[in-house]
Amino acid sequence: MPNKVKKQPHAVKGFSRFAHTYEQYNMIQAEVAKQLVGRLEEKRYSTIIDIGCGSGAVIKNLENCSIEFDHFIAVDLSEEMLSLHPAGTKIKQYCIDFNSHESFAKLCSDKEALVLSSSALQWSTDLDITLSWLAKCGKKAHFAIFTSGTFKTLHECAGIRSPIYSDKELKKVISNYYEATFMLQSYQLTFPNTKEMFRYIQKSGVSGGERQLGYKKMKRLMEEYPLDYLEFEVLFVEAKPL
Ligand SMILES: C[S@@+](CC[C@H](N)C(=O)[O-])C[C@H]1O[C@@H](n2cnc3c(N)ncnc32)[C@H](O)[C@@H]1O
Repeated sequence: MPNKVKKQPHAVKGFSRFAHTYEQYNMIQAEVAKQLVGRLEEKRYSTIIDIGCGSGAVIKNLENCSIEFDHFIAVDLSEEMLSLHPAGTKIKQYCIDFNSHESFAKLCSDKEALVLSSSALQWSTDLDITLSWLAKCGKKAHFAIFTSGTFKTLHECAGIRSPIYSDKELKKVISNYYEATFMLQSYQLTFPNTKEMFRYIQKSGVSGGERQLGYKKMKRLMEEYPLDYLEFEVLFVEAKPL
């Protein structure tokens, strides 16, 4: 297991495969969800929509911060993740792909809704589709999105291009749909050895590019990786639809 998280100023298949072990390997996502909820200003919302809700990190943090809501809409593409999400009379779950045009409309009935998304939108294959819908779904949004600064040194060592967006790309597309403020946050997660580090990469669900590597290349990468920590970079976004 990793030693500690240090803060510095593919996709769905992977998440489903490790749905039940995900909680043990999601230290960074857990910290990110806590920070995202910690940035909310109000103590009560009529509707909160959580995009890519997973097993419920956001709703659990809302409870911890005593933030209340009348309705909570939990959205995820993975039925398995949704089955791990808290249920209740105020909570509705929807199995929806945020890359598709269909089925978003039913989420958007409360114009006062707050839209949240923690550690999920990096998997949008078409940010224009996803954001154009999300911008119609409420009056305010808070997103935390992993950027290509995640596993930066690892990808450089392996000669791989990050499969996720850079902070610049994200800021540009988001600004087409929202008036937004941005905060870029880096994290480091240290490990006692590279074996543990690579196990974390496989199980955490944030991996991507390194899947392109075969066994031999992966082994060499483990020998040559110069750091005793993994790098993560997250863009926090506070946004009002244009
Ligand atoms: C890293 S997890 C984050 C889960 C949770 N928000 C958290 O903070 O722990 C990303 C989630 O996004 C979901 N996801 C990925 N691609 C998606 C898509 N196209 N549509 C809807 N959900 C998706 C995954 O199933 C997974 O539950």
